[in-house]
Amino acid sequence: MTRGKFIALEGGEGTGKSTQAKLLVGALTERGIQAILTREPGGTVGAEAIRKLLLDPPGEGWGHRAEALLFAAARSDHVERLIEPALNAGTWVITDRYLDSSRAYQGGAGGVGDSSILQLHDIGSKGLRPDMTLLIEVSPETVAERLAQRDGADSDAIGGRSAAYHGDVARTFRQISQQDPRTFSLIDGNADIETVHSRILEAISPLLGESD
Ligand code: TYD
Repeated sequence: MTRGKFIALEGGEGTGKSTQAKLLVGALTERGIQAILTREPGGTVGAEAIRKLLLDPPGEGWGHRAEALLFAAARSDHVERLIEPALNAGTWVITDRYLDSSRAYQGGAGGVGDSSILQLHDIGSKGLRPDMTLLIEVSPETVAERLAQRDGADSDAIGGRSAAYHGDVARTFRQISQQDPRTFSLIDGNADIETVHSRILEAISPLLGESD
């Protein structure tokens, strides 16, 4: 049995990851590839319970370190119960956010540090990395417009943080992608949905070749 491919979509708020992740799963399925769509934080019953704690925190909210541990715990359950079994069964896994969100939001913008996030990932998820990470980048002006439409004044505990925090998130994503250009693909998200979708299909085409 050939192991399935593992693809993560990453980027800041309002970059179109969720829409593109759905379209990608549809396109793979049409090609006869068995593929599932999942998300972080979440994807399993336990991880979805942790998601609620993270995005709608009790009391005064989490510090960046506690937050990093909770994301790592949610990811551990997600990898062990859903992602690994699916990949082993030959199914492709498309996830809306994964490890690099922790590196950008908690590691970089939150100040926890990249090596600590990677250590947590080794402990929680045996260091499992995607075959390819698609980093969708959109201009700050477009993001502001999309978020005003999508969330209004209703953003969650992390989405609602300052513009400076989200600027640090975007910078850290960019740095991480430059460290490992082999598995990262930068996708220009400043276009209509169909155009961005075709950019994504082009980026993953080397993986399609390998699965023939
Ligand atoms: P979600 O509603 O899924 O956001 P979006 O639609 O923007 O992807 O909420 C996920 C939030 O959690 C988002 O603000 C990013 C944040 N996050 C982290 O801070 N660290 C992580 O490791 C992950 C997976 C998400």
